Amino acid sequence: MSIKRVNLFTRLNPVFSYIPIINIKTMKTISTAERELYLTLHQLSQCYPIANEWLAQLPRWLANIKDKNRYAHAPAYLSVVERLPIIEDRHNRSVDLNADSITINIDWTESEFKQTQALLKNLMPWRKGPFQIGNQDRTLYIDTEWHSDWKWRRVWPYISNLQNRRVLDVGGGSGYHGWRMANNNEQQGAKTVIIIDPSCLFYHQFMAIRHFVGDTDKNEAGLCRTHYIPVPLEALPVHSQLFDTVFSMGVLYHRMSPFEHLSLLRGQLVKGGELVLETLVVEGDETTVLVPQQRYAKMNNVYFLPSVSALKLWLEKAGFVEVRCVDIDTTSTEEQRATEWMDYQSLADFLDPNDANKTVEGYPAPMRAVMIAKKA
Ligand SMILES: C[S@@+](CC[C@H](N)C(=O)[O-])C[C@H]1O[C@@H](n2cnc3c(N)ncnc32)[C@H](O)[C@@H]1O
Repeated sequence: MSIKRVNLFTRLNPVFSYIPIINIKTMKTISTAERELYLTLHQLSQCYPIANEWLAQLPRWLANIKDKNRYAHAPAYLSVVERLPIIEDRHNRSVDLNADSITINIDWTESEFKQTQALLKNLMPWRKGPFQIGNQDRTLYIDTEWHSDWKWRRVWPYISNLQNRRVLDVGGGSGYHGWRMANNNEQQGAKTVIIIDPSCLFYHQFMAIRHFVGDTDKNEAGLCRTHYIPVPLEALPVHSQLFDTVFSMGVLYHRMSPFEHLSLLRGQLVKGGELVLETLVVEGDETTVLVPQQRYAKMNNVYFLPSVSALKLWLEKAGFVEVRCVDIDTTSTEEQRATEWMDYQSLADFLDPNDANKTVEGYPAPMRAVMIAKKA
């Protein structure tokens, strides 16, 4: 095993010098992403000292996700990302982060196409997407369980333009929405996007896509704009106030303490910053909240499903103003379904076979609201 170090990285932060870079060529994607993340936080710390607290914890956060005692599959996932074909000039890469399907056009050989397809199948289940890599009849279409583009269409028209904004996407899954936030339309894309999510699988799915996006995602300072930190919201310094927009989509109902979640989201926002909250809701007035006795739509980690009125009240109580509900939508079995890339059960299996308005447990079928609010 040859041990090489990334000089700039370790020179800027000696804490990183303990990380052995096993093989500079094959480790390129993740080590590059880590370095770009470090440099972005370092740059931020010049104006916002709180970013030093993020920097201090970064080595531990990044080491934890590689620790096979915590995540038994981590070495296998890492090996998938390491073995993806290296993209060079001959591939004529172009990237569209503004399409329903995150699109990476590359002219690759039949063997690179097949190799990638086989490798990415090892990162199943792919839940959030879709993604498209390749060209013409050698296009790899990752048809994910969710049409995450449909959610983005329900959200995008109502949020403040992300241009020049720093964005945090809490519970960002595979990073699909994070890429859409970064966009590559200069008039609309965020300055910086930081995705956080504690899932080891989703982190590596992001890194696989990052591998193909490569350095097409740079800002005017030459730094990548889209980053991923594999931690839960609770791990972040509490009152960072670093972000102009914070997204929390599909996370609140998984939290045992919804007010703690709202309060932590608020702590990440600058004064006047925008929260985009998407969550499961039920019909009812401001006194209505469903707490499933056991499972909800077969999920065993669902706690609070408020009505839109109750959710508005929660947001106001948590210190948000100008709270509005911009969309309510009942999830369809076209939006969430089993595919070749997610071959477990999906929504059709979670609904009452005799009444699609109910879950198998007899609760109202999944209905989701998009709320937008400002930090006072
Ligand atoms: C239903 S998925 C939503 C993914 C994506 N945001 C979307 O809307 O499609 C919920 C995600 O939240 C993540 N998550 C759960 N608890 C979290 C926490 N405390 N902090 C950050 N992410 C969390 C999960 O790992 C999962 O990827």
